[in-house]
Order: sequence, then C-alpha cells, then structure tokens
Amino acid sequence: MRTLTYLGAFVALFSALFYYLDSQLDSFYIFSPQQLHSLAIDAIEAHGNDTASVVSYIAKDLHEKLPLHINLDEEWVFNNAGGAMGAMYIIHASITEYLIIFGTAIGTEGHTGRHTADDYFHILRGTQLAYTPGPNSYEPEIYPQGSVHHLRRGDVKQYKMDEACFALEYARGWIPPMLGFGYADTFSSTLDFWTLWRTTAVTGREMVRNLWLGKL
Ligand SMILES: *[C@@H]1O[C@H](CO)[C@@H](O)[C@H](O)[C@H]1NC(C)=O
Repeated sequence: MRTLTYLGAFVALFSALFYYLDSQLDSFYIFSPQQLHSLAIDAIEAHGNDTASVVSYIAKDLHEKLPLHINLDEEWVFNNAGGAMGAMYIIHASITEYLIIFGTAIGTEGHTGRHTADDYFHILRGTQLAYTPGPNSYEPEIYPQGSVHHLRRGDVKQYKMDEACFALEYARGWIPPMLGFGYADTFSSTLDFWTLWRTTAVTGREMVRNLWLGKL
C-alpha cells in the first residue's frame, strides 16, 4: 500500500514536472528555424554545390554567434535509422536541440521515425522526396536545394534521396527519446558497434558540455 502511495506521488510529481518543462521548451532554444534557413540559403549562394565549403561556412557562422555551443570538429559517423543509411556531423547536441549535417553521396530511403521533437531538414545539396499516406496523397512531396522540409513532432513519413543529398538538420523538442530510433538499426541490422560507440561518445560529450554550461 505504502509503495503504491509513493509510486502515485512519484508519477504525479514527474508528470507535473514534465508538463511544466514541456510548456517552457521555447525558452531553452538557442537556434531558430528562420535563422537557420537564411543561413543555409546564404551558404548555398556563397558556395553553390561546393558542399564542403557550404558546411564549413555554416559551422563557422554559428560558431561566431554561439562559440560555446558549436562543435567545429567534423567528426563524421555513419547513421542507420528507419532503414535509411547516411552519415552525419554533429554540430550541436543538447537535451532540447540538435543540429547536424546529415546526408549521403549515393542516395537512400527509409522511415523518418516518429519523434518527440520538430524536425527541420534544410536541403543544402540535392533533393529529398517524402510521402505521407492519405486519401488525396498520390504525388511525392519534393524538397529541392534551399528548401526546408518540416516534419512536425509526432508526424511520420517515408523519405528518399535519389542521389547525393546533404542537409542541415535541426531538431527541437525532447532529444533523448529520439536516440532509441537512431540506435535501433545497430542492434537489429548493422552490428556496427564502433559507429555506435563514436556516435554515443560525441553526442554524450556535447550534451554534457551544454548541460554544464546551463543549456538544457
Ligand atoms: C547544383 O547542381 C544541381 C544539379 O547539377 C543544379 O541543378 C543546381 O542548380 C546546382 N546548384 C547551385 C547552387 O549551383
């Protein structure tokens, strides 16, 4: 009986804390989708399809504005999730936001995952296609270079990149629950534990560093 009372009190407290923090989410963000979209467009205007320069332009610009929160070290790692395969460079990771360059030089296709965060996919090079099932949905959604694909928190789609495609991907909301999706394919398919370890080391290091700086 007593255990149940404690459990009840714990669940109530935890829910209250969660609803409070969830309502305050906006105050934890240091990036904005508008700012990132115009930065992506500036970078493409400056460097076109020289994607290496586009990426370093973006990282340097963000580093000037937010030196403590930006990782300039391009620690590229593979990422397998939802059946799709690509690679990423983690620019920022904290409890409520992540910012990465994600893409592949040869194309891929998969399930977006259903996430506890809003996802903004700024296409830096190539084109992304997406499909949401529905009674009036028979045409692909097309996201060309310079556009943004906004996947809302809780939504899900099929997506595809026919050939080389790289994007600046920004997620805001609750990041830790998304990591399960990012890791699942390692256990069910790739068994690439070296990549899992590298990804965890970089993500963990950035999350802890940001927490230490008071950035949730
Ligand atoms: C990049 O290359 C694609 C395909 O060749 C082309 O359609 C596009 O206009 C190029 N973008 C820029 C900014 O030069």
